[in-house]
Amino acid sequence: MKPVRSVTRHLPVATRQERRMFLLASAASALAGLLVLPQAWYLSRAVSSVFPRAEGAHAWFAALIAFFAVIAARAVLMAAAKWLSQRFASHVKRRIRREMVEQMAALGPVEVRRHPAGAWRTWLTDGIDGMDAYLASYLPQAAASAAVPIAILAFAAVEDRLTAVILAATVPFMVLLLVLVGQAAQKATDRRFEALERLGGHFLDVVRGLWTLKVFGRSRAQVEIIERVADDYRRTTMKVLRLAFLSSLVTELFTMVSIGLVAVSLGIRLLNGRMDFAAALVLLLLAPEYYLPIRTAGAQYHAARDGVAMLEQHREVLETPIPAMPLRDGGRTPLLSPQGVTIEFRHVTVRYPGAAKPALQDVSFRIGPRELVAVVGPSGAGKSTLLAVLLGFIRPESGEVLVGGVPLDEIDLGVFRGHLGLVAQEPTWFHATLRDNVTWKEPRTDEEIREALWMSGLDEVVERLPGGMDTELDGERVQLSGGERQRLALARLVLRRPAVALLDEPTRSLDLATERALERHLIPWLRQRTSIVVAHRLSVALAANRVLVLEGGRLVEEGRPEELLRAHGYFHAMVSRYRGEEVLA
Ligand SMILES: Nc1ncnc2c1ncn2[C@@H]1O[C@H](COP(=O)(O)OP(=O)(O)OP(=O)(O)O)[C@@H](O)[C@H]1O
Ligand SMILES: [Mg+2]
Repeated sequence: MKPVRSVTRHLPVATRQERRMFLLASAASALAGLLVLPQAWYLSRAVSSVFPRAEGAHAWFAALIAFFAVIAARAVLMAAAKWLSQRFASHVKRRIRREMVEQMAALGPVEVRRHPAGAWRTWLTDGIDGMDAYLASYLPQAAASAAVPIAILAFAAVEDRLTAVILAATVPFMVLLLVLVGQAAQKATDRRFEALERLGGHFLDVVRGLWTLKVFGRSRAQVEIIERVADDYRRTTMKVLRLAFLSSLVTELFTMVSIGLVAVSLGIRLLNGRMDFAAALVLLLLAPEYYLPIRTAGAQYHAARDGVAMLEQHREVLETPIPAMPLRDGGRTPLLSPQGVTIEFRHVTVRYPGAAKPALQDVSFRIGPRELVAVVGPSGAGKSTLLAVLLGFIRPESGEVLVGGVPLDEIDLGVFRGHLGLVAQEPTWFHATLRDNVTWKEPRTDEEIREALWMSGLDEVVERLPGGMDTELDGERVQLSGGERQRLALARLVLRRPAVALLDEPTRSLDLATERALERHLIPWLRQRTSIVVAHRLSVALAANRVLVLEGGRLVEEGRPEELLRAHGYFHAMVSRYRGEEVLA
């Protein structure tokens, strides 16, 4: 016997449990299918024994009892098959969803953002639920589809050669037609899946960018794009449906003609007295059953394609190379004191997947504990990329990053990130209370929280909120402004008490309250640990121990702010420009 593994190799089963559920479901559905043979047999016995020539009332009664017993057994088996298939499907779906989300986390923000958010949403919701028809109906019935016709054909071969020949001869044509229609359907379904992804993406664009779209008079155009994509989706769906109708029409016609042939050949021989009535009846009863699995398989194939498309997507996502550093559980951990740690970049070059130009090129620097370093430079210079490297979101193409003397790719990133604090360039909030948003559910006293709120200037915002710190941020009733979100992120950073603080300031200017909070309370706090701040504002850059100037991915200037001011380079130009603006303001 072949090992089970080879039978289920191409199926979406990953665990022993899934394989067992699948095999059980298949066995139950095949057995239920096969019971059609005794069912037809006893029915024909029961009918034929009604005639006076036959064995009498006793035989008739026995055959009828057996017939009902078989029907009952089939019903039980079918229910079991259905239950097992549903369980199998929900199991696989849950695993696939989990694997997708885990892979999403492993890929990290750099890779995840290469797909539109709408595509992820489609994959994780409709895409996975669209696999039901495939997992719960198509796959478990495949076994029955194969077993039942073979058994009926074998039975016919023993009982009546001519019927067996008719049954055997018609199947190849039917299968050929189904395959031809199926191939056309495959393309159509793939296009339909793509259209669904595009629809999700454009729709999300509208939700996110409605302000901009309206102001630039593009909302109408975007709606038109959505209409066009939706229309595309409708057309591809119609095409899939047309093909599904076509294939069921073809199989129905074929089945009817074939059953007709069997009936005519049996009837003629019955009239000529060359055939027994019971034998003819059982064959006639079995003929439609012979074609049934092929017909259902044909009809379900189209629904099943959606499931296959999703499985392919799942495989593609799982096979995407991970640009982020591996988490390396149980890796080395550098000594991280509350005062920070030494961070060293040695000739680091970073290239985003598919990018021609490196985003960072041969960058080397060193930062120690209790040091605040400001990173400045024009847009696209690689400032956020520098933080992404340190966070392990992207692995350098060459060069080395050392934290406390330990290479980043040997570090247990999970532990290291536990000592990191980040204010991202686009700070986010989560659907939770404001308290949970700043504490991440870590135990913090109200005192500590209040201090963090005060330091970040969020306290004024909290006072205005209806439920204070316990207000749910739900995006419906309570919305935070850009600057408030920034202050929320700062409060979160302070509460975390990280050894290493990373701040990516938003490019747009901050509101005055945040700016003041940053200058008064946060800069001293940042100087007590290792801090890297991507600075767009002069006050922060001037307060730093050291400034790194990036331009086009290269580190072009480095030094204490006053030194750089004297050097009349980029930093000097930047400061003069700011000062000019400040005078103007
Ligand atoms: N996920 C990504 N995939 C491909 N290229 C990227 C990605 N993120 C950034 N880049 C490219 O890398 C370069 C550096 O980007 P980065 O975000 O580091 O700039 P930045 O200095 O932070 O700019 P800004 O001040 O506007 O935030 C840019 O040319 C950008 O187009
Ligand atoms: Mg940036």
